[in-house]
Amino acid sequence: MKNKEVYLVTGCAGFIGYFLCLKLLKQNKKVIGLDSLNNYYDIKIKKQRVSILKKKKLLFIKNNLLNINTIKKIIKKNKINIIIHLAAQAGVRHSLTNPLDYVKNNIEATTCLLESCKDFKIKHFLFSSSSSVYGASQFKKSKENYSTDFPIQFYAATKKSNELMLHSYSHQLKMPVTIMRFFTVYGPFGRPDMALFKFTKNTYANKSIDVFNNGNHSRDFTYIDDNILSIIKLINIPPKKIEIPGSNIKNYKYSNAKFRIVNIACGKKIKLTKYINLIENFTGKKTKKNFLDLQVGDVQEISANINFLNRLIGKIPKINVEIGVMRFINWFKKYYRIE
Ligand SMILES: NC(=O)c1ccc[n+]([C@@H]2O[C@H](COP(=O)([O-])OP(=O)(O)OC[C@H]3O[C@@H](n4cnc5c(N)ncnc54)[C@H](O)[C@@H]3O)[C@@H](O)[C@H]2O)c1
Repeated sequence: MKNKEVYLVTGCAGFIGYFLCLKLLKQNKKVIGLDSLNNYYDIKIKKQRVSILKKKKLLFIKNNLLNINTIKKIIKKNKINIIIHLAAQAGVRHSLTNPLDYVKNNIEATTCLLESCKDFKIKHFLFSSSSSVYGASQFKKSKENYSTDFPIQFYAATKKSNELMLHSYSHQLKMPVTIMRFFTVYGPFGRPDMALFKFTKNTYANKSIDVFNNGNHSRDFTYIDDNILSIIKLINIPPKKIEIPGSNIKNYKYSNAKFRIVNIACGKKIKLTKYINLIENFTGKKTKKNFLDLQVGDVQEISANINFLNRLIGKIPKINVEIGVMRFINWFKKYYRIE
């Protein structure tokens, strides 16, 4: 792609949005970052991320995607032609008790953004979906064509709905869309509602941690830098047709969509207990563990087949979980001034 690209990153004050903007700005791209700065977690963290990004010349717009007329104006005025849509109500557990947050920020907000694109030529629209869409299927090494028809929490249901919505808009507008299914992204400056952050915080505070499913969960933990590098590489290769590996092309005979689904993950599964051991090693503290049964909405094992990702962007060396957790703990100590 040529250099005339203007990027809109929604959810730029969020964990992944922040690192994506940093990388794009470092490459001297023109980036507009939008975020409502909601208070789902410590707003101070979001404000700090934004203040760093502004110093690197991010054009930051504090707004809500639900303000459709404003969003249209932003796209028009800035001649935005690449959209990386990361803004969402994230979090699996929160969706068990607050489903309406997901209707508003995932279903409605994404619809507003898509409607705002209608009159403009968007060269590539990339969307952050989630491994949780594989749901109750409990596949080992989930592949992009595996069933996603049985989500077990509302968060996953809204992400799956977003994927379907995006297909319909891609078909109508002939807009190239990449659905990126992220698998547990972690790293410095990460989300306080996620396991690594909560475990580390409680370990330093000598408080116990809830270990669901007695620690027998496993996850395909993806270090933030690896996640960002994958996104950056994917931006430059919009799909030209339907690209879902392993799926039968006959099923899409009547679709004009330029629509791809790709897992973004490390490709290795790690047990939760190993993750906790690493936290203990790097904090030098023993964690008090409160072992609990499997919770409603929890998926026991999540791991990814990343052959398609590798085919698209080439195999990239990944940060292993030992280094990743160490970097997180080092950041945490510095951020919270722990001796
Ligand atoms: N972090 C992960 O492990 C992970 C895994 C799978 C999928 N995802 C998805 O990736 C995306 C980014 O995740 P994250 O970890 O950076 O989350 P995050 O919560 O840190 O960032 C999301 C940002 O979106 C903003 N936002 C929410 N609703 C908005 C709205 N209506 N208008 C404007 N801004 C709004 C929030 O203020 C927040 O800053 C999300 O869509 C999430 O569901 C993340």
